[in-house]
Amino acid sequence: MISTEYMGLELKSPVIVASGPLTQNIVSLKKAEEAGAGAVVLKSIFEEQIEKDVSAEIDNNEEFLGHSGADFAAFSRDRYIDRYMKLLSEAKKNLSIPVIASVCAKTMDNWIEYAERFIKCGADGIELNYYPISSDADVSGSDVDKRLISFAEKARKAIDGPLSIKMGYKYSSLANIIKTLDKTGINGIVLFNRFFRPDIDIENLAFTSSNPVSGKDEYAEALRWIGLMSGEIKADMCGNTGIHDGETVVKMLLSGAKAVEVCTAVIQQGFSVIGKINAFLEDWMKRHGYSSIKDFSGLLSQEHIENGWMWERTQFLKTIGE
Ligand SMILES: Cc1cc2nc3c(=O)[nH]c(=O)nc-3n(C[C@H](O)[C@H](O)[C@H](O)COP(=O)(O)O)c2cc1C
Repeated sequence: MISTEYMGLELKSPVIVASGPLTQNIVSLKKAEEAGAGAVVLKSIFEEQIEKDVSAEIDNNEEFLGHSGADFAAFSRDRYIDRYMKLLSEAKKNLSIPVIASVCAKTMDNWIEYAERFIKCGADGIELNYYPISSDADVSGSDVDKRLISFAEKARKAIDGPLSIKMGYKYSSLANIIKTLDKTGINGIVLFNRFFRPDIDIENLAFTSSNPVSGKDEYAEALRWIGLMSGEIKADMCGNTGIHDGETVVKMLLSGAKAVEVCTAVIQQGFSVIGKINAFLEDWMKRHGYSSIKDFSGLLSQEHIENGWMWERTQFLKTIGE
């Protein structure tokens, strides 16, 4: 009853466990499946981290390496990729739900080889996480957009299998960028990643990070952009950030999402929250007379409602209590 199709993959539930602390070992991955998850996205392999560690290793071993630095770098990189492939093949062996590998890319090309190897190793899809912060004042917004699009084009050419981009929302025209991304032929767009947030420790006068988990009212921007764009693109949309319960999952599906990714809800409430979300969804569907998610998916997206302009509304017209 609550099965869905996402990126061409058959999911028995629209709830996917997002890339993060819950998807980095086989014990938690099995718990996710047992709890009723439709798929899992493995913790990302970080190109940036690999390159940083590899160059530190090269610096530490410089005197022994002579001219063989490049071979050593390739060997070192392989070690990271092998470790990831071990988790991936273990997950494929032990789970019957789709296992999506995740690459957090920093450059345009270097990471492509990882993704190709993950697909060969049996990954059911690749989720790419690419969001360099645009802090260079000499780079214009349109150049930032072009980079993301050319990144997606390269990825599409190189990766033979279901491919999604997990994106951030700080673009001047999200509608344009989502539509252009869709034209590259990617299969899924995950809205929105929740990134590392900087903070300051005022007692120790130090840079620090803020709480990594989301609040349960943080889903509105994903809801808005799925509501606005799901009727206009071929790629499947997946909601992410602030989805903590069954009610919010129903909202995402009504706006046009094919699936949702959850992380904080499982960190805070345990894997059993997945079963609770599935049960809520089933009960809600029964109460409303739907036998399949297809029957109501996108029912309240901009294309399907009379007052579709409401999805574009940004200002409050009335004051509180009016
Ligand atoms: C501790 C932690 C680690 C994370 N690691 C990754 C990661 O490796 N790759 C990634 O794409 N997202 C990562 N995320 C982001 C989550 O996948 C998700 O996008 C984000 O937490 C928003 O979803 P939520 O509101 O359900 O938590 C991480 C989140 C947390 C809290």
